[in-house]
Amino acid sequence: MSNTSRNEERTEANEAQIAVHWKEEQYFQPSQSFIDQANLRDPDVRTRFGEDNFPDCFREYADLLTWSKPYHTVLDTSHPPFWKWFTGGELNACYNCVDRHLEHYRNKAAFIFVAEPESDAPVAMTYQELYVRVNEMAALLRDFCGLKKGDRVTLHLPMTLDLPITMLACARLGVIHSQVFGGFSGQSCGSRIQDSGSRVLISTDAYWRSGKLIDHKVNADIAVQAAEALGQHVDQVLIWQRYPGKYSSPTPMVEGRDHFVNELLKQYAGRRVEPEAMDAEAPLFLMYSSGTTGKPKGCQHRTGGYLAYVAGTSKYIEDIHPTDTYWCMADIGWITGHSYIVYGPLLLAATSVIYEGTPTFPDVRRPWRIAERLGVNIFHTSPTAVRALRRAGPDEPSQCQQRFKHMTTVGEPIEPSAWRWYYEEVGKSQAVIVDTWWQTENGGFLCSTIPALDAMKPGSAGPALPGIYPVIYDDDGNEVAKGAGQAGNLCIRNPWPGIMQTVWGNDQRFIDTYYKRYCKNPDSTDWRDWPYMSGDGAMQAADGYFRILGRLDDVINVSGHRLGTKEIESACMTVPEVAEAAVVPVSDEVKGKVPEVYVSLTPDARDPAAAARKVVQACESIIGKIARPEHVYVVQDMPKTRSGKIMRRVLSAISNGRDVGDITTLANGSVVEDIRTQVDSARAAARKP
Ligand code: PRX
Repeated sequence: MSNTSRNEERTEANEAQIAVHWKEEQYFQPSQSFIDQANLRDPDVRTRFGEDNFPDCFREYADLLTWSKPYHTVLDTSHPPFWKWFTGGELNACYNCVDRHLEHYRNKAAFIFVAEPESDAPVAMTYQELYVRVNEMAALLRDFCGLKKGDRVTLHLPMTLDLPITMLACARLGVIHSQVFGGFSGQSCGSRIQDSGSRVLISTDAYWRSGKLIDHKVNADIAVQAAEALGQHVDQVLIWQRYPGKYSSPTPMVEGRDHFVNELLKQYAGRRVEPEAMDAEAPLFLMYSSGTTGKPKGCQHRTGGYLAYVAGTSKYIEDIHPTDTYWCMADIGWITGHSYIVYGPLLLAATSVIYEGTPTFPDVRRPWRIAERLGVNIFHTSPTAVRALRRAGPDEPSQCQQRFKHMTTVGEPIEPSAWRWYYEEVGKSQAVIVDTWWQTENGGFLCSTIPALDAMKPGSAGPALPGIYPVIYDDDGNEVAKGAGQAGNLCIRNPWPGIMQTVWGNDQRFIDTYYKRYCKNPDSTDWRDWPYMSGDGAMQAADGYFRILGRLDDVINVSGHRLGTKEIESACMTVPEVAEAAVVPVSDEVKGKVPEVYVSLTPDARDPAAAARKVVQACESIIGKIARPEHVYVVQDMPKTRSGKIMRRVLSAISNGRDVGDITTLANGSVVEDIRTQVDSARAAARKP
């Protein structure tokens, strides 16, 4: 690594250091009524999952699954960092989520679907009905599409029952599903189709969002074209209908390529498909996630280890019992939804709620009405949603009769005041809260309190989960001591069953991104030499609780969703007038962080305002609305080092109203004041009525 980039990283770490701003908070204890019913009450659990018992401790999680062939080795470390879990074992994910529950829970709801329009009654789908639908869909995928074990299929589906049915049908066949978040653009979907080598795309005609029936089929056409341009041909596009029997999109179907799923399914009525016995190490799904370079990486998750890890964490951290009605308000298109709407709850035979729309539609009371109506007792959401619901209706939850026993927050740091509102108003000071820290790459939670055993501390994710041994390193690779009050790079010393297997098709990127920096000996097959680097800054208090400070790399966490700055910059650069683009994360009261864009234009660009509008459009159409920049500043020149590198740190300081620090090394220091003046006056103008 060059000196310049190392120094810049230091500066970023120092910024994280400055972010250590919350004072130590008081503890909150779980209520006795929660403790009395909790799945995990044994205080010896951390000893049982201690280093002396690693990796065998994870047998406990594997025992939550039904294996068609038992595994012989818990952890194989022969080819680091490509760990293998539960080798020799075979199982099927769909069988574990559906078939095995039929004996006891056949007519219990697996899912309850809540449509956005409130006039539509909730739809409960029993385990038996799910079994029937998944089998028919699996038959269709196998016999109509010719899909088999190991093939990849891209799904671009919104939050309806069609999504888990499709995922589970893939899993039944051993087909690797790659669900792209429904809110991503057709182009984003196309690049993921290409990267994964999918020849089948499964999408839908339309879905409800904020009171509008959105045309989604149009994105399928864009996706197929984008994939084609990148060299991947899509033979078949399967379109679910939001209202079966009625086509709700104005975009025409393409003869010979596009097919309505509901129509095709008629041929497969009543069909049963044997679940494929899959090797524990066979990939179950891909989940693309933003990284520091432009191209999102396909996080490849394995079957056995992943399922064991989500079953264990759902049972012990989410405290899910089969009798619970559990609602995670995330989207299944993100890892949270895969692990904690679909796979985790279903492995435990729970009832999982799927809500189609915006939480605040038609009003801010909607989530509490849903919870009340369905009798939800476990609630799971992000700090962004907590902040938005609090801001729009601070007293609303107290007017409703929902009674949660357990609530989760995930995805971003939650500030103590928002935490307290969540606890007091939403949880009515009775529900336990877990602040769960983890990442797409991780499969499941890594840090959190154990709900019945540990006290809660607002703003802290809590200690590591059983069997997870974190460490914080400074930039030179020295361990930062617990309680030192110093921020550093949060790493996990050991492998765990939920860790991704690799970056799809790019083993080197897997090593480079997560292991290269802190690897102690690249020739070693001892896991102790291979700490996993999360890319997050954190500090550990004297009580062992971790406070997560956010990303140390070029990733922006918008409303708990990851976007790469490079990805957004590449989108900006597609506008012909743009000569240079830099994207910085800016703190936002509700969303945590939002992207702000700085661009300089080519000499012949005539209309800066029009160029700025094109930049916004480019971000929305290439990535999705989620990447919409909060502001686009067209500047005369970017602050640059003498070697010509844009100093994003300086732009980030300006955008966040911070001191720009030392700028003596800049080649063009004078532009800094100009940019600050421009940003300040744009902000002042925006505030005027
Ligand atoms: O910065 C951390 C933040 O979200 C990032 C992971 O994002 P993603 O892969 O999209 O997964 C989100 C859901 C698992 C992390 O690198 N993050 C996640 N959970 C927390 C968090 N930051 C603070 N507190 C958390 N509980």
